[in-house]
Amino acid sequence: MIPTIEWHGPNVRMIDQRKLPARIEWYTCRGYRDVIRGIGDMVIRGAPAIGVAAAMGLALGARSISAGTYAVFSGKFGKIANEMFLARPTAVNLRWAIDRMSGLVASMADSPVEDIKAALFEESEKILIEDIEINRRLGKSGARLVPDGATILTHCNAGSLATGGYGTALGVIRAAHEAGRNIAVIADETRPWLQGLRLTAFELMEDSIPVTVIADNAAGSLMRQKKIDLVITGADRIAANGDVANKIGTYQVAVLARENKIPFYVAAPISTIDGTIKNGDLIPVEQRGPEEISRFGGREMGPSGVSVLNPAFDVTPAKYVSAIITEKGIIKSPYRKAIRGLLDL
Ligand code: MRU
Repeated sequence: MIPTIEWHGPNVRMIDQRKLPARIEWYTCRGYRDVIRGIGDMVIRGAPAIGVAAAMGLALGARSISAGTYAVFSGKFGKIANEMFLARPTAVNLRWAIDRMSGLVASMADSPVEDIKAALFEESEKILIEDIEINRRLGKSGARLVPDGATILTHCNAGSLATGGYGTALGVIRAAHEAGRNIAVIADETRPWLQGLRLTAFELMEDSIPVTVIADNAAGSLMRQKKIDLVITGADRIAANGDVANKIGTYQVAVLARENKIPFYVAAPISTIDGTIKNGDLIPVEQRGPEEISRFGGREMGPSGVSVLNPAFDVTPAKYVSAIITEKGIIKSPYRKAIRGLLDL
């Protein structure tokens, strides 16, 4: 499995996901602004991976701060953290990582600045390693929902590339495969960015897990023909009531699954749960540029000047979610209570 992101000497480098699967190319970040650009331009994407990148970006940014006192250092660090926060709006893992790194800085007010910089570097490595462990735990706990012989539909890419490694939705699929279950995956191509076709198919083929790609609009028909046994997706943010923001198109998959009596599971780490947001209507949904829709393979496909709407995410109401798979176990409705328990509130 190729690493999604890593420290490389004094730099952070990430696999450039815009180029996959045609080319495996590293994108090197020498400063924190390279990381912000990398997140905004989708060099790295997927909620947990964005969190890891933000943590590493902050450690990079901290190193570049020249400050003789804690007060000056923490003021400059706060400004970098504010810039990082704006990199992408929907995945709450970005804020989660910034809060964790900022908390570390606040806890070291009596330490020399150089020690804080070193601690931030170590913390970013820890976040990466923890994320992979979390996904393995989550995968193991979710695998019991996957029966032998199952055909699983997934949307977008919630795999190794969307995380520190192993994946969330694909983590569950990997764990079921490792447990010896005979499974097959149907991957929605995931217009407009084609995460399903380019990334999910690539990852699963690397692992020799049978995968077939479909156009997004084929999912309903396949469900009606009983060719799909369950759905597993990742999440970018889960509200306190269990509403799930994920890649645009997830909502219609969930509604179709309900109509066809197919379980719809969401696999996500606790860092994707936003206990501060009451319901999914309050989740900020990123709007991306029109060219992602109107252009295909570098060619303009629509009439010149056509108006385009390109929301990158949608919200699936909790009532369509059969279960949420986390590293602390599987929760079911009523979600508000279960989520409070998970967050120890
Ligand atoms: O726009 P993207 O590619 O960052 O969107 C990614 C998704 O929607 C994933 O399904 C989600 O982040 C979960 S990744 C484990």
